[in-house]
Amino acid sequence: MKSRGTEGRALDPGHLRVAVVGATGLVGQTIVEILADRAFPLDVLELVASPESVGTPIPFGAQTLRTRSLDTFDFASVDLAFFALDTELSERHVPEATEAGCLVIDNSRAFRLDPAVPLVVPEVNPETLRQGLARGLFANPNCSTIALAVVLKCLDDLAGLKRVEIATYQSVSGAGRAGLEGLSREAGRRLNGLDIEPDAVFYGVPMAFNVIPQIDTFEGSGWTREEMKLVCELKKILERPALEVNPTAVRVPVFYGHAAAVHARFREPLTPAHARAALAAAEGVRVIDERTPGGYPTPVTHAALRDEIFVGRIRQDLDVPEGLNLWVVSDNVRKGAALNAVQIAERLVKILI
Ligand SMILES: NC(=O)c1ccc[n+]([C@@H]2O[C@H](COP(=O)([O-])OP(=O)(O)OC[C@H]3O[C@@H](n4cnc5c(N)ncnc54)[C@H](OP(=O)(O)O)[C@@H]3O)[C@@H](O)[C@H]2O)c1
Repeated sequence: MKSRGTEGRALDPGHLRVAVVGATGLVGQTIVEILADRAFPLDVLELVASPESVGTPIPFGAQTLRTRSLDTFDFASVDLAFFALDTELSERHVPEATEAGCLVIDNSRAFRLDPAVPLVVPEVNPETLRQGLARGLFANPNCSTIALAVVLKCLDDLAGLKRVEIATYQSVSGAGRAGLEGLSREAGRRLNGLDIEPDAVFYGVPMAFNVIPQIDTFEGSGWTREEMKLVCELKKILERPALEVNPTAVRVPVFYGHAAAVHARFREPLTPAHARAALAAAEGVRVIDERTPGGYPTPVTHAALRDEIFVGRIRQDLDVPEGLNLWVVSDNVRKGAALNAVQIAERLVKILI
């Protein structure tokens, strides 16, 4: 039975019923794995996907669970739902879930910029969680935003962040299973000397052995939507509406792990040594900055399948003591989506049980 506490909600310890919606996708499946690995205190786990996937077996610890159809799923039967669907489906089904009294952590961009919905990175703004309790809705930020918010918040606390230039190098898993399959297919055909069919998931541009300066659709101003997610989400999470954010988002032929070259400008001088020490002590961050060949993080050598956000190549701007350059790498499906969502849920459980 659900009970209501003084904040309007409470979770019943020992009877926590959880759903993962989009459980057959990259993010959903990783949420299921992480719930098992971190022994999330749930009693019942429901896996939900499209009607076409009904009955798909998905391992959960030692058990194998089977997916149910979103079309017939009753959200009143669960206390907490992780949504890992595209934006349109979230817009349609999240309200159904919250109106049924279910807490929702949504991975799409549907509600991220809604002022009434907290956009949460637990290491950065956990205090915003309580603001989401009345509606029962919490948004998980974009995959690149999460890692950058953790790193930039740490540096902002040291020297007052004024402006940040970012070039991302984003893996194809950021486009879901279709992205992984698209790159595998293209690379295989290219290596076998065969022509490739341009893939709609990469806007009809060859992805294998290429670099594409477009992620998501173009907005009227010439910016891509992925770039504007970074701008708007960083300002919201860091609570810095006047922060200058100047990104270029690029898709690269890497399977897992997003990287970013970051050029940050501060109000006060900040030395690499000071930044390195603060980042090394920051929750969820690991500094790898050896200044030797391979002494820096890369998606393949460090990020894929790891929980930490890796930082390297920390160096002073050549011209100003208030400028610092760095390189940030993390697993976009784990910390960039599934792990962050589970960490939000862990904090909610602490608040509500
Ligand atoms: N991938 C990342 O790195 C990443 C990072 C941050 C945020 N996100 C966001 O997380 C969300 C999920 O991304 P993903 O990468 O996991 O995508 P994905 O691998 O393409 O998975 C999509 C999921 O949606 C389900 N789905 C599709 N149509 C459906 C329908 N009509 N009814 C019910 N379920 C349906 C699919 O189920 P079927 O298998 O049954 O079709 C699948 O479980 C997206 O909003 C994405 O932008 C992704």
